[in-house]
Amino acid sequence: MARGYLVAGNWKMNGSAASNAALLEGLVRGVSECPAIDVLVCPPSVYLDSARRHLSASPIALGGQNLSDQPQQGAFTGEIDASMLRDVGCGYVLVGHSERRTLYGEDDACVARKYLQAQAGGLIPVLCIGETLAERESEQTEAVLARQLDAVIAAAGVRSFINAVIAYEPVWAIGTGRTASVEQAQAAHAFIRGVIAKNDVKISNSVRLLYGGSVKADNAASLFSCEDVDGGLIGGASLKAPEFLAICAAAQVLAAAQDA
Ligand code: 13P
Repeated sequence: MARGYLVAGNWKMNGSAASNAALLEGLVRGVSECPAIDVLVCPPSVYLDSARRHLSASPIALGGQNLSDQPQQGAFTGEIDASMLRDVGCGYVLVGHSERRTLYGEDDACVARKYLQAQAGGLIPVLCIGETLAERESEQTEAVLARQLDAVIAAAGVRSFINAVIAYEPVWAIGTGRTASVEQAQAAHAFIRGVIAKNDVKISNSVRLLYGGSVKADNAASLFSCEDVDGGLIGGASLKAPEFLAICAAAQVLAAAQDA
């Protein structure tokens, strides 16, 4: 099944008005070379509105990095809800990034609430899952991935994956320069698809699965060539236009070959 490629940049807590403008200008210029793929950028929330203006004439989609788990607006100091993200031009939002899970105490139940709020507010959640190094070394990878997925399936139902993206991000590969091997990435992605297939085969075949964790221009093509890898969620390498565009170009080549 042709799922198409999505290349997403998670800028994390980086940038300034000036550096963002330069980065987005570079991306807008370069992305015209990649018409066969979808491209998404997730800047820090305070810059979303200005990013929207930079992207207005571009196919690049905009996403938030996080959202509130509350079902209504109100007295939640510091929080941002799905309707606000929509208001400033977002179509997507990251949910359950490992940095949110480990540094900010988001457990599976919290991630599931955020996922529900994202979809209720009309956003496509990019559900991030992945194991730590200790979990991989103790052969818990599949159990962790199943637990993280099942929490969302229990809360939102498998049909929710019609309007969601899943990002497999092994925690040990994030920002470490240590990428999962092609075999490790494919095995994890096939396992994730299998968990969804236990609930609904058709949806498992259509949901986009991104790989994240030290994706760079020089390893993107091999990772994206895996049967069950439909693109990437890029951290550090999304902060420089040439590097991010080179990753997009790797996906573009594969997407164009699929379409041919
Ligand atoms: P790096 O690409 O910097 O390893 O980060 C991956 C990531 O966490 C994207 O969400």
